Amino acid sequence: MSFESTAPDAAEMARRIEGTLQEHPWLVAEDDHGDIVGYAYATGFRGRHAYRFTAETSVYVSPAAQGRGVGSELAIALLDALRASGYRTAVAVITLPNDPSIRMHERVGYREAGRLPAVGWKAGRWNDIGYWHLALGDGDPLEIR
Ligand SMILES: CC(C)(COP(=O)(O)OP(=O)(O)OC[C@H]1O[C@@H](n2cnc3c(N)ncnc32)[C@H](O)[C@@H]1OP(=O)(O)O)[C@@H](O)C(=O)NCCC(=O)NCCS
Repeated sequence: MSFESTAPDAAEMARRIEGTLQEHPWLVAEDDHGDIVGYAYATGFRGRHAYRFTAETSVYVSPAAQGRGVGSELAIALLDALRASGYRTAVAVITLPNDPSIRMHERVGYREAGRLPAVGWKAGRWNDIGYWHLALGDGDPLEIR
């Protein structure tokens, strides 16, 4: 579940992609017909300067394409891109429960690092989130800002 209340339209998605690509990767997966079936991107994890070696990662796959490895492939490619840019840590924030997301993230190497209860109000109830963590490497301060 996304914590957004209204679905972003195409113009808003274009704006987000452009903004993200200033500093982070945004990847898309296509099927054999060239239709987009999923995407993955990274953003900064919190705003303060000391967090700049950590990226928050997100993966979305269209319902019809789920369960076929697309999400895992996107996640692995995203982690490779972050590693190549010198990032040290990837964090996925998962709204709970979300077994497909937990399995997909753990399959590619993330491990649970803690939960926060009742931090999001959506769909008529309080929702918990969980942090899933993956160490990418040493994090080279010379490679990134
Ligand atoms: C989470 C998500 C990205 C996974 O993508 P995917 O392409 O379906 O994942 P994969 O096919 O690579 O599957 C990876 C693992 O998840 C499991 N999985 C996938 N769909 C599942 C489902 N509906 N129920 C249970 N497990 C599921 C797979 O079995 C596999 O686990 P395994 O290796 O132990 O068998 C996708 O389900 C999705 O877009 N969900 C909605 C958006 C979302 O929640 N994004 C994550 C935000 S943190």
